[in-house]
Parts: sequence; structure tokens; C-alpha cells
Amino acid sequence: MKSVEIKTLNRKYKVLIENNITGGIIYHIKENFSNFNNLIVILNDKLYGIYGERINKILCTSFKLNTIIINDGEKYKNIDTLKYIYQQLLKMNIHRNDVILSFGGGVTGDIAGFAAATFNRGIKLIQYPTTIIAQVDSSIGGKTGINFKNTKNIIGCFYQPHLIVTDPELLKTLDENEIINGFGEIIKYGLVFDYQIIDDILNISGNYKNDENRLFKIIENADFENIIYKCIKIKAEIVEKDEFDLNERQFLNFGHTIGHALEKTIGFDNINHGQAVSLGILCALDMSENLGYLKRDFKKDILALYDILKLPKFISKISIKKIMKSLKYDKKFTSSKNRFILLKGLNKPVIYNNLNENIVKNSIINNMLT
Ligand SMILES: NC(=O)c1ccc[n+]([C@@H]2O[C@H](COP(=O)([O-])OP(=O)(O)OC[C@H]3O[C@@H](n4cnc5c(N)ncnc54)[C@H](O)[C@@H]3O)[C@@H](O)[C@H]2O)c1
Repeated sequence: MKSVEIKTLNRKYKVLIENNITGGIIYHIKENFSNFNNLIVILNDKLYGIYGERINKILCTSFKLNTIIINDGEKYKNIDTLKYIYQQLLKMNIHRNDVILSFGGGVTGDIAGFAAATFNRGIKLIQYPTTIIAQVDSSIGGKTGINFKNTKNIIGCFYQPHLIVTDPELLKTLDENEIINGFGEIIKYGLVFDYQIIDDILNISGNYKNDENRLFKIIENADFENIIYKCIKIKAEIVEKDEFDLNERQFLNFGHTIGHALEKTIGFDNINHGQAVSLGILCALDMSENLGYLKRDFKKDILALYDILKLPKFISKISIKKIMKSLKYDKKFTSSKNRFILLKGLNKPVIYNNLNENIVKNSIINNMLT
């Protein structure tokens, strides 16, 4: 088993990474938590359908188990779902010493994490990520929250989990769209921090480049666990350096400024986070090229990689005016000045404030609108 330790201001916690760790999860929960009465599993209806029975069977032998089932989907990452979770926790008579286990993707992790942070002024929290995005990114580092009035993650707080359990085996039930999504985030790690990650993916995919099912084969490959581990280590280091997102942690927003604007413009249900980010990455690469930071033909290689990973390269029927308007609501805009994460070279991220609006506009028009 691989393990990464993360030291934050208020606590030190571990990320445990192993294929099939779920079978032996009781041991790890007992090792990390003592003297609690209730274990509350929060998961959505889709995950309950796939894993509910198995999770119940494993956990109920050792713990007093409570389950809260929420609706599946970004549009339910809202105040109504949060209210529902609070109501259930009240009904279950949950106390500060009890443990919430958030089983799911980034949506469940963010909302269950926020509920854990705020109910009773903070309940112990296990993040148990089940999508690629959640395993390599959202479960780590304590950002929790909900969307409000069509604005992403606008209500939230930092609340570090007490344990993260990462089982890459769970990714095998993801549908293709969600795998594509996850690759958007993995490419981000490769471009911003460690290009070896991209080489690793290319190595694995080499055998099945033209195979329609190549994405499933990539994640089923034994080495994929290692790619997940590399991304987790990067995120852990960043969080330790800049827990509250004032400096280096913003590098993780590479591709996200425009990605978030796209999600806001099109509606969270019509484009997935990873796909929006991968389009945002293309724009960020283009802006970096326009400023003379990156070689002109760099993006060609990345576009070839997008083909292998079935990542989107453009989007249609969306107006530039609307995207520019959405950009203004981004949290990364301070006092109406924009802020982008660009590359000053491969694996050399830089925070760029107040980028010329025409550069932004042109890069969006030229790179992703058809
Ligand atoms: N907190 C952070 O630091 C952070 C970082 C990045 C993204 N996020 C947030 O994460 C969210 C996106 O995360 P996501 O892409 O995981 O979305 P998600 O949680 O909606 O999961 C995507 C879909 O996959 C399904 N699913 C999850 N695990 C599965 C499995 N093992 N098998 C089959 N289906 C499964 C879900 O039910 C859902 O339908 C966004 O809300 C974004 O804002 C947060």
C-alpha cells in the first residue's frame, strides 16, 4: 500500500492508496479513529445503486452505520441538499465525535465535506473518492463547499479531512465520459508539475491507440495506480506549502479560469468539469504562446494527446460575449482584474494578473469556439 502524509495547520492526515483497499477498510478506520458511536456514509443514489450493498456489508459488521443518500449531479451541489444532510444528521443524533465518510466524486466530497465542517462546528471526516478527479484532486486539501445562484463553489470553507482512502479499483465502474473528465485533471498535473505523468499515459496507451475502448484499458492497467499516486503526491506538496490558496496552490487552477466560465455559461449540467478544464487548458496554452512563454508548436503535441484521450478540442453554439461576462464572476478575479495561471515553459507555472482582454478573447475564439 502507498501512503502520503499531509501536514496542515490544524492536522496531519494520510492518504492511503491501494487497489482494492475497500475490502480491508475496517482495519484502517479502526486504526485512525477511536471512541466514536456513529459512522455516517454520505453517497449519491447512483453510487448507492452500484456500491451500496457492498459498503453496507463491509461496514455494518463493525460500526453503527447510518447512510445519507443524496441526488446525483452538480446541480444538486446546492443549499437544498446541504439542508437535507443537516436534517438527517440531526435526526440521527450525530455528535462531534462521530465520523462522516464521504463516498463519491467531487460533488459528494465538496458538499459532505462542507456539512462535516459546519455541523456541530465540525465532525470527523473521511474522504473516500470514487472518480479520477476526486482521487487526484478534490478529496485532498480541504476545499469544501456548494454552488449558489449559478456560481460555483461560492459558499464554502477549508476543512481538512482526517483520512483519505483512495481505491483506484473503484474507477472501473466509471463511464467513459467520467474517465475523459478525469484525464483533463491529470493532463493539468502533467503540464504544470511533472511531464513524466503525460509520458506515463502515452506509454500505457501506446498498446491500444486505435482501440475504441482504450480509455477503459488505460485505467485498468496496473500502472494507472502509480499515475494516481504521482498526482496525489503533487497535490499534497502544494497543499502543505499553501493550504489557504494564496500562492502556489493557485497553480492548480491552470485551465480553470476559462473552464469555470464555460461551466457557468453553458450550465453545470451541460458540460462536465474536466471537459471544461481541458478546453480552458487549450486557451491557457495559447495565451502562454502569445506572450512568448511557450514554443509555438507545443500545443500540437497536446492536441494529439487530446485525441488519444478523447478530450474535447472545441465547443459549438456558445457566444463569446456570454463567456466573457461569466469570466468576471470568477473568484480568481480580484477587484475586477483578471488572473490566469499560465506556463513560462513546461512545468513552469506562473500567476499572471490583468492579462489584456483581447488576448483572452482571441484565445477563446481561436481555440475552442466553432
Ligand atoms: N474541493 C476541491 O478542491 C475540488 C477540486 C476539483 C473539483 N472540485 C469539484 O468536484 C466536482 C467534480 O467532481 P467529479 O467530476 O468527481 O463529479 P461527480 O462527483 O459529479 O461525479 C461524476 C459522476 O460520476 C459518478 N460516479 C462517481 N464515482 C463513480 C464510480 N466509481 N463509478 C461509477 N460512477 C461514478 C457520479 O455519480 C457522477 O454521476 C465539481 O463540483 C468541482 O467543483 C472540487
